[in-house]
Amino acid sequence: MFYIDGKWVEAGQATVHPEDRGYNFGDGIYEVVRIYNGRLYQWDAHLTRLFRSAREIRLSLPWSADDLTRLATELLVKNNLTEQDDSVLYLQISRGAAPRVHDIPNGIKPVIMAFVRPKARPVEDLKKGWTAQLIEDIRWLRCDIKTLNLLGAVLVKQYAKDAGAQDSILHRNGIITECSSSNLFAVKNGELHTHPATHLILHGITRQVVIDLAKANGIVVHEKAFDIAFLKQADELFLTSTTAEVMPLVSVDGEAVGNGRPGPVTTRLQALFEQHIYDSVLV
Ligand code: PDD
Repeated sequence: MFYIDGKWVEAGQATVHPEDRGYNFGDGIYEVVRIYNGRLYQWDAHLTRLFRSAREIRLSLPWSADDLTRLATELLVKNNLTEQDDSVLYLQISRGAAPRVHDIPNGIKPVIMAFVRPKARPVEDLKKGWTAQLIEDIRWLRCDIKTLNLLGAVLVKQYAKDAGAQDSILHRNGIITECSSSNLFAVKNGELHTHPATHLILHGITRQVVIDLAKANGIVVHEKAFDIAFLKQADELFLTSTTAEVMPLVSVDGEAVGNGRPGPVTTRLQALFEQHIYDSVLV
């Protein structure tokens, strides 16, 4: 069941106002949250980012963190997702419906929509890794806001697929930013390198978990921009996201990364991440 604007409905019964600004302008925000064993993973971090995104687009939310937590819990119950299920929760808030003008109308009521869907962990891909294609970052300059306006991400992902790769690695004027829907890490001499959390990347929840786990386990992390030349001579590459977790990248533009298989630092972080999931959902 979907939750839309205060109602519980089946997918076919859901309606969107023709002048909903989420629909017309991509004027809204969202989160994708992992559910392991029927439990929300990193929920508080997702809520914090959602409220930050709202502030950044000047959207004042009529819901508290507790209201949203109640909604998420109810979604799990209504969809019979319990202990054994891995799934994802999608939650979006559009600015709401109003006669179409570009500036922000006064007194407009935000519209919330949320659903959960079963989604297994990508266990086979985590062992094999993905292939990547280097592509120009054509997105806007506020990639730190998790906005519904995802056309740039849609296109760069498709460009990668057209080139026969599974995902894109994005660069702005030769500086590596992130991937189409995940953050990127390079490993060089056993140390991690990733773009700093500026307006040019999404401040990924998984990225932060991996940085914290790495530091706690004696792996040096550099949150510093690097360029294409550095990327091309990295020992290992991996991306991070809620759904892809710690996903090795085994080739870029058809050239093998390292020996073309997931490397030792990536594999170690995968194990640490898995333990973190386990510790988080079993408390
Ligand atoms: N994508 N960078 C971008 C551009 C993203 O869209 C995402 C998430 C991430 C990783 O963030 P996190 O670790 O918090 O999931 C980085 C989600 C999963 C999506 O749009 O489906």
